[in-house]
Amino acid sequence: MAGGGMVSQGEVKDYGGKVTAFVVITCMVAATGGLIFGYDIGISGGVTSMDVFLEKFFPSVYRDEEAVTGGEKNQWCQFDSPLLTAFTSSLYIAGLLSTYVASATTRRFGRRVSMLVGGANFLAGSAINGAAVNVAMLIVGRILLGIGVGFANQAVPLYLSEMAPAHLRGALNIGFQLATTLGILVANLVNYGTNRITAGYGWRVSLALAAVPGGLLTIGALLLPDTPNSLVQRGHRDEAKAMLRRIRGIDDIDAELADMVEASEASARVQHPWRNIFRRRYRPQLIMAVVIPAAQQLTGINVIMFYAPVLFKTLGFGANASLMSAVITGVVNVAATLVSIASVDRLGRKALFLEGGAQMLVSQVAIGVILGFGFGSGGDKALSKGFANLVLVLICVYVAAFAWSWGPLGWLVPSEIFPLEIRSAGQSIVVSVNFFWTFLVAQFFLMALCHLKHGLFFLFAVFVLAMTLFIILLLPETKNVPIEEMNLVWRRHWFWKKFVPQDEHLPTAAANVKSTA
Ligand code: BGC
Repeated sequence: MAGGGMVSQGEVKDYGGKVTAFVVITCMVAATGGLIFGYDIGISGGVTSMDVFLEKFFPSVYRDEEAVTGGEKNQWCQFDSPLLTAFTSSLYIAGLLSTYVASATTRRFGRRVSMLVGGANFLAGSAINGAAVNVAMLIVGRILLGIGVGFANQAVPLYLSEMAPAHLRGALNIGFQLATTLGILVANLVNYGTNRITAGYGWRVSLALAAVPGGLLTIGALLLPDTPNSLVQRGHRDEAKAMLRRIRGIDDIDAELADMVEASEASARVQHPWRNIFRRRYRPQLIMAVVIPAAQQLTGINVIMFYAPVLFKTLGFGANASLMSAVITGVVNVAATLVSIASVDRLGRKALFLEGGAQMLVSQVAIGVILGFGFGSGGDKALSKGFANLVLVLICVYVAAFAWSWGPLGWLVPSEIFPLEIRSAGQSIVVSVNFFWTFLVAQFFLMALCHLKHGLFFLFAVFVLAMTLFIILLLPETKNVPIEEMNLVWRRHWFWKKFVPQDEHLPTAAANVKSTA
């Protein structure tokens, strides 16, 4: 007890160990889960701006688009169709529901079983979508893809955060986001290519190719070991010990294992994670699990990710130029994620959140001003070429800011702050809140664009301001803190310390190892 008290005021410890090739490869394989998430995000916007696809499945949208070309309809409103947005967003509804099933699977059967279920559903969904002959098949396919992503996003970030040594957790976890951005980029490139298939089946190729990332995750999950934390939690202590030695590359893993065992014993006492998560002592984590993913979506990023081709078309770029612009933002997205990987464990999470927030704010305001000025709120003026290009540059500045801040951190931070006993349940909340807001933005963006016009960018700017203030005041820094010791950061935080018991026993190893670390 006394030792625990001492550590709670002292330094966070370092378990030692090397970064082994094994842990890096394992994390790279797991991160392919991000590919399926990203491929989905990137593919639907491009497909829904393909004329053949619209004509076949959404003829009314196609007619409206023709009317705009003929000058009969306001261009802010051309893509405002509930059925079209249902195609994009049905995936997120399926994902947000299935992630709760994934929570139980992940806790009871381990992280890799959930990844396997995710990959398999994704494969099935891509087959149905590629073969679709009517809207119903499209939607069923999207629902299966959604289940796939619901499982993968629940299990992969946890897997990465548990496998990684504390001082590299940020970088390895962001492998998930890097894979997400690569998935988006590949999807954009695929769309760019398939849009040129004149025989009219290009959209089928785009949708069916989702089987590639789906297959990668499925095979990856079959080959991966489970995390030591999950092995301990499920009673396989010897296996956990061997695995920990292997991933850390040292023999003396007793301290880290002791913390896991202790966390797991605490976890075993918690029979009902869902009831427990609402206890006062978990309030800080719960608030973060709800606010961070919601805020990530309220940056407005998916307006660009889903609708970039549509948005660029609205701005007066031709069909090919629109898809090409989406490819450009895709490249910026990947490159800026690398910046995050390189800096997150050195600069810390908060510094990135704050810089990214400020940069997004400035670019959103600038985009709103230029669109208001150059496009006219009636949407009747044509945007000059110079303005259109300037908007493209500003969108890239905005995407870069998101990609080294809220993008990766929106998944990293929630996955590293929960104690083991409620980690799986907590991650499901994160996924479902994220998907719920993704759905809302997807569902209402085209409508909001039609009504708020350029003012929509100001609205997102206000959200970014509010969430940046939230981070300044309420998020403690979590870099380099071992995952089973995260309780310390809440105990020390000026506000959250009121919620977390101060005198409680900490992992015993924390006391023992501190002096030698
Ligand atoms: C978000 C997605 C977004 C993507 C963009 C992810 O972190 O959750 O909604 O589309 O980043 O790269």
